Formats: sequence, C-alpha cells, structure tokens
Amino acid sequence: MRVSVLAKPLPAADGDVLIVGSYADEKRLPEPLARLDRALGGRLGEVLEAEKFQGKPGQLSHLYADGRLAAKRVVVVGLGARGQLTLEAVRRASATGVRRARDLGARVVSIEVLGDTLPLGPRARAVVGGALLGTYGFDRYKREKADKGVEELRLVEPDTRHGRELKAAIHLGTTFAEATAFARDLVNAPANEVTPTYLAKTATQIAREGRLKLRVYDRAECEKMGMGAFLGVAAGSEQPPKFIHLTYSPSGRARRKVAIVGKGVTFDSGGLDLKPADGMLRMKNDMAGAAAVLAVMRALPPLRPPVEVHAIVAATENMVSGKAQRPGDIVRAMNGVTIEIGNTDAEGRLTLADALAYTVARVKPTEIVDLATLTGACVVALGSLCAGLLTTSQPLADRLKAAADLVGERLWQLPLIDEYKDGLKSDVADINNVGPRGGGAINAAIFMREFTSDVPWAHLDIAGPAFSDRDLPLGPKGATGFGVRTLLAYLLELK
Ligand code: BES
Ligand code: MN
Ligand code: ZN
Repeated sequence: MRVSVLAKPLPAADGDVLIVGSYADEKRLPEPLARLDRALGGRLGEVLEAEKFQGKPGQLSHLYADGRLAAKRVVVVGLGARGQLTLEAVRRASATGVRRARDLGARVVSIEVLGDTLPLGPRARAVVGGALLGTYGFDRYKREKADKGVEELRLVEPDTRHGRELKAAIHLGTTFAEATAFARDLVNAPANEVTPTYLAKTATQIAREGRLKLRVYDRAECEKMGMGAFLGVAAGSEQPPKFIHLTYSPSGRARRKVAIVGKGVTFDSGGLDLKPADGMLRMKNDMAGAAAVLAVMRALPPLRPPVEVHAIVAATENMVSGKAQRPGDIVRAMNGVTIEIGNTDAEGRLTLADALAYTVARVKPTEIVDLATLTGACVVALGSLCAGLLTTSQPLADRLKAAADLVGERLWQLPLIDEYKDGLKSDVADINNVGPRGGGAINAAIFMREFTSDVPWAHLDIAGPAFSDRDLPLGPKGATGFGVRTLLAYLLELK
C-alpha cells in the first residue's frame, strides 16, 4: 500500500472510497462532515439517521456518492465520544474503515486525518498504522491468494502547511507497521521452515540490506564461550543452534547503548518434560521475541535513531531425542552459574540465561530489554492482550510503559519479589530452573535476573499477546507482532 498526502478539501478528494470519521453524542453533523453532507444534498445525514448511526467506536456506514463528490463512495467510521478520543481509537477506526473500503473492492482510498482533537503528527501516524496493520494477511502457503486490496492510501489535508509533518508521520507509521508485519510473517510461518538456521539467514539479509554488523556463532563457538545452558536446550534437536548478534551503530555519536534480547525457540515441544498436544500446537510461536527484535533491527536504518542497538538471539529448538537434556541434568551458563534442570520445558529462561550473560560480558550495554514468550503463568495472570513487565530499573520500565502507551500496546508491571529466589534453590547446583507453581512469571524473571549482573534490565513476558486465537481490531488471528512498535517507540524516544 502506497501512502501519500492529498492537499484537497474532503468533497474534492477523489478515489474509490473516501473515509471520514464521526464522533458519538453529537446532535448535528460537525465540520467537515457537514460540508460533505451539503455536497451530497443532505443524503449523508439521512443515511446515518436511518441506520441509527451513533458514531460509536467500530461502527460503520457507507453510501454511494452518486457523482456529487470527487470520490465514488463515502465510508463513515465511528470514533466514540469526542472528549475521550485516544490514538488507539483512531488506529482502530482507520483499520475498520480501510478494511470496509477493501471489501468494497477499492484500490485508491482517501482518508480524513481522523480525530481532530489530537495533535496532527501522532494521529496521522495512527491512521497510517491502523490502515496497514488492519489489512495484514498471511497467505504465503495458500493456493488461493487474497485480492490485491487497497493499493493507494491518501491522507486528506487541505492545508499545505502541514505537508512536511504529514510526510514524516507517514514515514514513521509505515515503517512501524511494516516492521510489525515482518515479525508477524516470521511467527506465522511454520517451524519446519523457520529453524534456527532460517533465523540466522534472516539476520544475514537484514545485516546486508541495512549495513549492520552481524556475528552468528555456531554450536562449537558457543561451547567455547561456555554457553552450557543454551546448548543443553539445543541438545535434543537435529537442527543446529545459532547464536545471533546484530549491531546497529548510528552515524554520529551514540547517546546510549541498548541491547534487545529475543527468545528464539523455533519450536518448543517441552523436551523430555513433553507438552501435551494442546499445549504444543502453537509452539511455533515460541520465537516471537526473536522475530520482534529482528524486525526492529530491520527498521532501524531507515529511522536512523542516535542510539547503538544490539540484538541478541539464542536460537534453538526444544526437542526430544536420545541426546536431549534430561530432568535433573546440571548445566553451567556462560557466567559460571550452575543450573539444575528441574523441568526441560522451562527452556526459554535457559537460552536467555546465556543470551543475557553474553550481553553483559561482551556488549556491556547501558540497558537490556528482553522479549520472551516465557510463561503460561503470565497468560493466566494477564490474559492474551497484555504483556508482563518485570524490571531491575524503574526508570527503564517507565520509559517502556510510555512507549507502549503511545503505540497502543499493553504492558503491566509485575513485582520482582526477592524472597521468591528461595523457591529456586537447588540441592546440587547454584540454582534450579523452576520454582513453585504460584507466581510462575515472577519466578522465571527472578531466575533470569541472576544473569543480568548490574545492568539495568527489563523483561517483557509476551506469552499472551504474541499470538491471538481470534481476529483483533489491528490484525487477523495468528501472530500479532507484539512488542515491535513499543521497542521502536522506546528506541526513538517517540513522543
Ligand atoms: N514457551 C512456553 C511458555 C508459553 C506457554 C508460551 C503458553 C506461550 C503460551 C515456555 O517455554 C514454557 O513451557 N513454560 C512453562 C514453564 C514451566 C515448566 C515452569 C510453562 O509456562 O508452563
Ligand atoms: Mn517450554
Ligand atoms: Zn518455550
């Protein structure tokens, strides 16, 4: 979908469909809707009245313009009450409107920069983001492909003085959404295609296209570095593990050095502590954290933020075989800590233990943020629309929360309770990889904290929101690309 600015008043905006917004609880049609209504000889008001259109969020109506406007049809989307408008409501309204335009067969769509009570740049970003995210589809493995869909989207803004600001907003909106789609594609593709080797190849492509530095360590090199926790998980798999380290350096002086670490378990069978069929079915998505950090790295070169960013992914499968790690095994992580394997299905934290220890020792970043589909317990606690946030640095957590808030992703902070470390005690090693059932998301984070040294660290448990069993306002069921836009907003310090 190409996105551009159209400097015309709404009645003169051409295209197959013109999308406009309408607030709830307003007695008369406000401008610029009233002006459209006059051009349509009062028919817009009549149709909305007849359909009992109230402007509620998600509500839709459309009418044929009958040659009275430059556009062939008008789609009206509800924005909710004017006083309560949020950027997320704009995003969702845009997604709803553009999906309807697509279903009407539109190729060229003009859209009002919805939500005139909010600042122009952010709401233009939201309109673009909603349109792109809301029309995402995954048909790579289908014989019958989806229709071409909307090819051109124009943001209608008659005042040419806003041209520059709108162009910048379009750049941000499209880059964020395309990065999210890239992550969704990686997660939606099956585990027989997306292996650790495939993730490493993807990193190679990203490095080539964006001129990033890349280092991929194979099994032997990881062994030399002492990554016993990571390699223990990889032991049962026929697929060779890959440890991926991508670096983006800004052209000028870097203000900070951030490491983003993604859980990259390309399939989680549970290992010898095998998952039941139900629980295993979606475990191709256990690399959603890795997909998010790779997608972010791909988006950074065109965005050019003044920060150095390191992406770290310890990619492996968690499988069963005669070579697989056993419950009760003891492994040694790169920082020397020995770990008793209480449960082979708590593999994410093992791969992350070495990813974090490597990051601390080799990258020496100012802060670390990891994204991981880590615990079912976090899904029980927060459901499928919200990630858990656990941190050793409140200022870092606050910056992440602000970024998430801006892009409409939900994070909820859970406490790192020191005493819960007692639950991870082992009789034979420094620590056990599992604790008691209660507080599972916290226990996992307490375990990982042992590998972060004194570097400020925030952990996002995205087991719930990385994947959806039902269609959402901003995308179909399947992978969501959760975390990509939050990380980008955080790295860009977007306001
Ligand atoms: N990948 C899973 C967590 C998960 C569960 C992600 C559901 C998405 C949806 C993780 O590796 C896992 O198996 N965790 C175990 C830990 C337990 C053995 C302590 C869990 O949550 O059951
Ligand atoms: Mn597991
Ligand atoms: Zn897992």
